[in-house]
Parts: sequence; C-alpha cells; structure tokens
Amino acid sequence: MRKTTIAALAGIAAVSIALTGCGRADTGTGAEGESGEPQAGFAADATIGVALPDRTSENWVLAGDLFTNGLTDAGFTGNVQYAGSSNSVGDQQQQIQSMIADGAEVIIIGAADTGQLATQLEAADAADITVIAYDRLIQDSELVDYYVAFDNFNVGVLQAQSLLEGLEAQHGDVDTWNIELFSGSADDSNSAVFFDGAMSVLQPMIDDGTLNIVSGQTTVQQTATEDWAAENAQNRMDTILQASYGGEDLHGVLSPNDNLARAILTSVQNAGRDVPVVTGQDSEVESVQSIVDGVQYSTIYKDTRALVAAAIEMAQALQAGEEPTTTGTQDNGAYEVPSNLLEPVIVTQENAAEAYAENPDLAPLTEG
Ligand code: BGC
Repeated sequence: MRKTTIAALAGIAAVSIALTGCGRADTGTGAEGESGEPQAGFAADATIGVALPDRTSENWVLAGDLFTNGLTDAGFTGNVQYAGSSNSVGDQQQQIQSMIADGAEVIIIGAADTGQLATQLEAADAADITVIAYDRLIQDSELVDYYVAFDNFNVGVLQAQSLLEGLEAQHGDVDTWNIELFSGSADDSNSAVFFDGAMSVLQPMIDDGTLNIVSGQTTVQQTATEDWAAENAQNRMDTILQASYGGEDLHGVLSPNDNLARAILTSVQNAGRDVPVVTGQDSEVESVQSIVDGVQYSTIYKDTRALVAAAIEMAQALQAGEEPTTTGTQDNGAYEVPSNLLEPVIVTQENAAEAYAENPDLAPLTEG
C-alpha cells in the first residue's frame, strides 16, 4: 500500500459559542464603585489557592514552585498544595475544602481526577470563589469559571505528525509500519483529547493499511495507562511484545508523554529489540537528553513558566475587576468554558536547540 503524504492539519480553531451558562456573574467584572472608578474584584493581597495533582510528571513539579513564587511576586498570598500519590483524589478534595474555609478568592485547580470535584465546586461557588481549571479541564460542571492550558488536541496532532515523520525518516523503505498506541490515565480528561488529536491524523492511515496496530488495541480505553504510571506502560508494552510481536518488527509507538515514553523504550530495549520511533510530551530533562542522543524521537514543549504566568494573570485580572484574557472556549460537557489556550511546540533532535533556547534548564542539554 502506498504511503500517503503526511497531511498537515491546521490547528482546530476553537469556535466561540455563546455561553449557555456561567458559574458566576459576580466577579465584579467591569463594575463601578460609587465614585465611578472601576472597582477591584477583591483585595490585592488576597489568598489564591492552587491545588495540584500528584507529581506524575516534571511539569507538575515545576508548577508548584512557579506558583508559590509568582503569586508572592504578584502581591497575593499563595496557598499551593499537592495531592499525594496514594489518595490523590481524597487529598485534593480536602485541600480545596480548606482553601475555601481559609477565604481564598480564587482557586486554581490541576485536577487529580477531572470528574470528582462536584462537591468542592458547589462549595466554592457558594463562597463566591472563582475557579480556574489549570491544564486539565474539570468535566461536567458549569461551576468551572475559566480554563487555562495548552491546546491539548493540537498536542495529539503534533505527536502523531512527528510519529509519521520519524517513521518516514527511519523506515521509509517499509510498506506497512507496525505501531502501538498508548494513552494517558482515564481519570484525566486530557488523555482522551490528546488521543483524539493523534487519531485525527493516524486513523486515515490505519484505514488505508499504511499503519498496522499489531496488538489490535486501538481505543482510548484499551490503550489507557492508569495513573499515568510508568510501570503500567512498561508492563503493557512487555505484554504486547510477548503476545503480538513474535517475528514482527515494531516501528513506532505513540506515547502521550515523556515519562511513559521512557518506560516504553525500556521495555523494548529489555526485549533486545531495535529502538522504535517513540513520541512524548513535557520536555522532561531525561527525555530531552534522550532526544539529543537520538533515542526518543520527539517530545512536546509546553513551557510551564508560560502556563503558570497565564494562570496568575487571570487571577490578577479578576483582582482588578477585569475580564481575564481568553482565546476561545472549551466544552467540558456542561458548557463552553471561557479558555486561554497556549500553543504547544513539537521538538525533535532537529529543532531542540532552537526550541529550548530561552529555557535555562533545557538549553544546556542541546549544546554540543
Ligand atoms: C498533562 C501532561 C502530563 C500528564 C501526566 C496531563 O494532564 O497535560 O503534560 O504529562 O498529565 O502528568
């Protein structure tokens, strides 16, 4: 079967739809005081709560310090909490309840489970607190006021495009590429969005026989990695290699992030096989090094500094009584949440130096 050229997909522009309902209309937006001066939304040194999930990837580790310092620099009182790994949902629910009790004006949430915060959102709404979903869109609630993230669908599109590019470069002589698909944890709404973005590119090539998923596992459910845990990805790769790859070559793997990419590579290497084209996400130090060394094929750069800054800017706008900057809306199953989406960048060996030039932690890895 002939390989079709990689279709470059234009970013799916988020269409802004009239809001069907918003959790709050009481942020003081545009309100004027008796003197006619614009009224601040709340005190300049107000408490801003930040509830982060367990540290399942480096971006979450970075976010904690960036929020702590950034909120202080902005004059706020920051209260940054992480959920632990053993009871992440319960921890986070409790942490949000305490932030509400402590009088936070805004709570920024990177959800441990994007479907388990209904009670906390009700309580925040009752206390007139603005809720900003950070990186992961909390589902099925009109009480999520804003969302700030990278464009997750486009992350998946870019991952799939780089997978095809790597396959063409490394196995251009093969008619049918054998690949496997991995997706993230089912309790994270991002997982399906990454996967859908990737499949928007890959599905036509699966259908025309250019790509062969040898295991036959093609759905987001079949390919999920519980808790985003590396050992789960490694075990699944081990099992697939044993069960489905007797005499077959494995040419490529769609991995949703770097931590899982390295686990997949470990599995393949332990099996004594050639390194396939493996995608990733997060620009974790070890993976960037691996890309520079020619092992992992690609990653996605979602600069955590920019995302944290965008979230803090939303809090500052609310404090000033202004409407935060948004680029469109995202459907969370209940309504179109006003959203600020930043653009992710695909990184391979070729553009690593350029992509990380402004990042003091990553730039040195690309030198020499
Ligand atoms: C984030 C990814 C991250 C994953 C696991 C996702 O929600 O968007 O950047 O790799 O969680 O921590």
